[in-house]
Amino acid sequence: MERGARSGRRRVLLAALALWAAMPWAACVCWEAIPADGPVVDGVEVPDAPAPSAGGLIALTFDDGPRRSTTAALLDGLAERGIHATFFLIGRQIPNNMDLVRRMDEEGHQIGIHTYDHTQLTGLNRGDFAAQVDRTRTLLQDTLGHNHFLLRPPYGAVDPGVRAMAGCPIVLWSIDPEDWDDKDPARIVDHIVDNAKDGDIILLHDIYPTSVEAALQAADRLRRRGFYFVTVEELFAARHIPLEDGHCYRTAYP
Ligand code: NI
Repeated sequence: MERGARSGRRRVLLAALALWAAMPWAACVCWEAIPADGPVVDGVEVPDAPAPSAGGLIALTFDDGPRRSTTAALLDGLAERGIHATFFLIGRQIPNNMDLVRRMDEEGHQIGIHTYDHTQLTGLNRGDFAAQVDRTRTLLQDTLGHNHFLLRPPYGAVDPGVRAMAGCPIVLWSIDPEDWDDKDPARIVDHIVDNAKDGDIILLHDIYPTSVEAALQAADRLRRRGFYFVTVEELFAARHIPLEDGHCYRTAYP
């Protein structure tokens, strides 16, 4: 009798564990995969990712461009769909692509800094940091005539020095399909669509034709599920979350 009761309790426990593992929050281990600060951002605990939602706001973000052959095609596809995205640019690629950078700005996309030559920013002294971030900011300012840019540090690597020297809000991401890895558009699209939630920031790279293709396909599928695409700034404004210089932002879950 006692043994039966014990094995019954064990079966219930195992069933509960299996159920827990099958639930979407089990995937929140992905926070640890983000090479930044862990689940606490600026002293505020990051909530577990909610379950995939039907509809909501999503920010598509693109790093490592501009690259003429791929970024232009992406801008065409976004324009056809009336979608605004956010681009984190590499400074040394700006002088040869000023028309593309102006086009992004004119067409309502948001622009950010992704360093001058994709250098990891943690541990840099003031001079080296300025050569990566301030130099890129000046290039953008000279090209666009304004100084309104976010920062995305390469590899999502942030430390107190990066926060102190950023001079603008720091934007990371919540969905990373690792589009640079197998460059398989079907897998990238599935990863995005299967994980998309209201308030997510999706990381892609507009330097690969496969990522451009995947971004546009994912956008079409998510729109049919009721998602709207906004810039990072629009996403946080919609959630009444102020973006402050030197603070890190990964999601804008409702
Ligand atoms: Ni990058």
